[in-house]
Amino acid sequence: MERKPASLPSLFKKVAEKQQLSMLTCYDFPTAVMQDRAGIDIILVGDSLGMTMLGYESTLPVTMEDMIRHAQAVRRGSPNAWLIGDMPYMTYQPSIESAIRNAGRFMAEAGCNAVKLEGGVEMADRIAALVRSGIPTMGHLGLTPQSAGAQGGFRLQGKGAVQAKKIVDDANILEEAGAYSILIELVPHQVCKIITERAQNCFIIGLGSGPDAHGQVLIYHDMFGLFPRFRPKMARLFADAGKVIQQGLEQYVKEVTERTFPQPENWFQMPDEEYQHFMELLKK
Ligand code: KIV
Repeated sequence: MERKPASLPSLFKKVAEKQQLSMLTCYDFPTAVMQDRAGIDIILVGDSLGMTMLGYESTLPVTMEDMIRHAQAVRRGSPNAWLIGDMPYMTYQPSIESAIRNAGRFMAEAGCNAVKLEGGVEMADRIAALVRSGIPTMGHLGLTPQSAGAQGGFRLQGKGAVQAKKIVDDANILEEAGAYSILIELVPHQVCKIITERAQNCFIIGLGSGPDAHGQVLIYHDMFGLFPRFRPKMARLFADAGKVIQQGLEQYVKEVTERTFPQPENWFQMPDEEYQHFMELLKK
């Protein structure tokens, strides 16, 4: 089906029409092609690539260079999705200027439509400055992986009333700062519902936070069994691609070892007369 590239008006129109927004992480060209063909609304080149693609224990070592290279590949594969570049650790925390410079790179060098950054009230001035610079910015509250250490690990946030109220207040502040959207990760569904109901000029994307947000996001590797370290409860396994690939790899190793691969259909032959000529040339 012919698709038009997503835009903020087209995303907000869907929200106004009570259609759910679909969003996934993506880090490479072939996956971006498949996600685009599937009709995904929003793609996040998440700094989760540090864990899913580069094998780090956390997202903290990810650099702007890593992010730009992957975001460029994703943009080449998906001309239609709303493409968000995820600001890596310490590329926006130090100052408003660092935030604008690095966010600008996602837009100018990778063709992103927007950026995302983590944090509540303390990041409101960064969001306001980015929006003033013409860079649509998504907030990220609840579990924020760049501060997972301070949050006690990759665990539910806002379970207690006081912390839940703080997340709701932060969402309101980010919206007032100009965030067009907020990702709410791993909070009780009641908290996400309240945030979604209160959002006015901002749409809410949930991750492990229940069904009431304006849209849902998953980490691609979690939904296809491609992350070998753990599988979070919030991710449904939509297909076990990891298992299929593992079986294929074991079959390949077996067939190469047993000399059943390659077969004649996998190789090429010289025409007989060229082969005769070749033999004669070798004798000279
Ligand atoms: O980096 C990322 O992939 C994220 C997810 C939690 C959606 O921010």
